[in-house]
Amino acid sequence: MSCPALPEGFDFTDPDVYQHRVPLPEFAQLRGTAPVWWNAQPHGIAGFGDDGYWVVTRHEDVKEVSTKPELFSANLNTSIIRFNAAMTRDQIDVQKLIMLNMDPPEHTRVRQIVQRGFTPRAIRALEDALRGRAARIVAAARAKGSGDFVTDIACELPLQAIAELIGIPQDDRARIFDWSNKMIAYDDPELAITEEVGTNAAMELISYAMNLAAARKECPAKDIVSRLVAAEDEGNLGSDEFGFFVLLLAVAGNETTRNAITHGMHAFLTHPDQWELYKRERPETAAEEIVRWATPVVAFQRTATQDTELGGAKIKQGQRVGIFYSSANNDPEVFDRPEVFDITRDPNPHLGFGGGGPHFCLGKSLAILEINLIFQALADAMPDISLAGDPRRLRSAWLNGVKELRVHYG
Ligand code: HEM
Repeated sequence: MSCPALPEGFDFTDPDVYQHRVPLPEFAQLRGTAPVWWNAQPHGIAGFGDDGYWVVTRHEDVKEVSTKPELFSANLNTSIIRFNAAMTRDQIDVQKLIMLNMDPPEHTRVRQIVQRGFTPRAIRALEDALRGRAARIVAAARAKGSGDFVTDIACELPLQAIAELIGIPQDDRARIFDWSNKMIAYDDPELAITEEVGTNAAMELISYAMNLAAARKECPAKDIVSRLVAAEDEGNLGSDEFGFFVLLLAVAGNETTRNAITHGMHAFLTHPDQWELYKRERPETAAEEIVRWATPVVAFQRTATQDTELGGAKIKQGQRVGIFYSSANNDPEVFDRPEVFDITRDPNPHLGFGGGGPHFCLGKSLAILEINLIFQALADAMPDISLAGDPRRLRSAWLNGVKELRVHYG
């Protein structure tokens, strides 16, 4: 199918397209005319020989791809289109040790083990510590008068939450945070993080986590690492598997939540009626609307395992299929007036955490808890927070990211 209204060469995975905004009007055009659209790339995607990829834009089709791993594999290519394109074959093989890039039955085995660390009880157990953290983060920022919301507030809680969850000793946290931050945003030249710095940071983080796992295997403690690596009867993770799991958490649980919080703050500050409503009533529905509105993960990809049909399009075996959560979360077939930021929206079947298949976000409850805690702390201590500039966006096609958001802490 063609989509004549889009400019020649338009590429939904090009970071430049996302420099100033997520291309929501372009997604809307596709949903109306060619909801599963072949985005041809006649020059190939970074030398892998692919001549394009499918852009899946409707809520219903994103769900369909997500829930059918037998038709749409996460493993034939890695989950992130550009990430994948920028990497060598060796790096891609290493990527496949990360559960996000696995298919059943390997994925099922790893998921069953790691979800023991994410039970409602395990997340509830973090609540008091994280509430205290959130209050301290907000108080420290307030003392500054004004500053960058991203570095002062949005970065800190997600990192602390993961460190708390895994049981990383306090003294090691600064190093972990430094590696995590270096691994992220490899695509943005302004951040001056070279690929080498990013890769080295990833290697150091993996090796730190492997050592931690080996120590807990030897001498189990009452923490999640021990539960994942030292359990005898229910199956356990090898030290290397644990290393890659921590690597995934440092990216999947960190940058996503950071951006949800930052976009949420920006949305409140540009929709003052919603901020007033939040401060008055603190509706439970707010966190989900913040995630729908932000959609921190723009898209992931799958690869067709066989010839198949989706939304009227004929997909061939081996072709890449991009599932665009940003588009699905603005699909008017599912959301009444999706362009409105409405913290009372209910129901809110957004796909910000994935389309409900086997890879559905493992950390959803933790992310929702963090978002609730930080906005509660902000409403308590900083009711008059205000904007001091426009957000500066991250150059990335898969993360809807903000690098900087200047505010006056009220
Ligand atoms: C997977 C989004 C926070 C851990 C995913 C997926 C998305 C996502 C879209 C892929 C779903 C799929 O392919 O069907 C988000 C967003 C977050 C968030 C928007 C914050 C607002 C977190 C947190 C953690 C986490 C806090 C953990 C600390 C993971 C893991 C996976 C995952 C481990 C891979 C699951 C698998 O492959 O089985 N997330 N996430 N995420 N997320 Fe999250």
